Amino acid sequence: MPSPNPTPRSASGSAPGKLILAGEHAVVYGHRAIAAAVPLFAHVTLTEQPGPLCLDPLCLDPTRTTDDRLLTALGTLLPADGLCVSVRSELPVGAGMGSSAAIAVATVRAWGALHGESPGPDTCFERAWAMERVFHGNPSGVDHAVSARGGVLRYRRDPFEVSTLRLARPLRLVVVHTGPPAWTTAQMVAGVRDRAPWATLDRIGALAERVDHALSTGAAVGPLLSENHAMLQEIGVSTHALDEACISMCRAGASGAKLAGAGGGGIAFAVVEAGETAPVLDAARRFGPAWELTVAAA
Ligand code: MEV
Repeated sequence: MPSPNPTPRSASGSAPGKLILAGEHAVVYGHRAIAAAVPLFAHVTLTEQPGPLCLDPLCLDPTRTTDDRLLTALGTLLPADGLCVSVRSELPVGAGMGSSAAIAVATVRAWGALHGESPGPDTCFERAWAMERVFHGNPSGVDHAVSARGGVLRYRRDPFEVSTLRLARPLRLVVVHTGPPAWTTAQMVAGVRDRAPWATLDRIGALAERVDHALSTGAAVGPLLSENHAMLQEIGVSTHALDEACISMCRAGASGAKLAGAGGGGIAFAVVEAGETAPVLDAARRFGPAWELTVAAA
């Protein structure tokens, strides 16, 4: 005889976040960006249960994605009834490290797993667009491309192009979270569009090509990242805290530093190409929680 309360069927998926090494904002206008997956993940578990699609209330605090957009976004991928969704993010949420993209790709993987499938990177990328559009309006797609494929990518939306960039040597990074941005990514992107700094966006696009070359050949990349940060200041997406964090990390021994993602707050990172990371980490900690990451050479 079947049990009166059978264990609900559930399945999980995970996906990594990202750091944009060069080219944020310009990538929205058809330039190439270079972005790296980071070893911090979003985890999504889907559990079958009667009733409308819902979020496990226990998951809300850790992810801090308490706004309505998460449930709306999940509704673009999942049926309106019959599932409870639990989201756990190791990534700081809404801070420039691609948490929404990682949640979207993790959801695609969890839904696949619930049906005995394991969707490949192209399928994950295509399916995750709908969720990313709820979060970001008109995203370039770079964030969820990295979440779906991993590694370091060259990415362009128009004309579409994505390929793996093989690093000549590992990148030692120090990342600092300077505090939650006051605006969403969609608002930051809209602000740039309104200010229309087209010449600077072209220069950011050209710089991303030089970053690509430096990473592929093992040449110094730090000064290029600092140049990219200066251009992001020009287009109005940096903050005093991001600027000061970058300056302090460079004074402490980093060879370059920049904000990452949409800006207006959130994450900055520094690259340490010679010497110890410890002094850079100490300098970073004056601006918020900070940690080291290594992006491995392919
Ligand atoms: C956000 O991580 C990156 C932006 O370039 C927006 C996008 O590419 O959609 C600011």
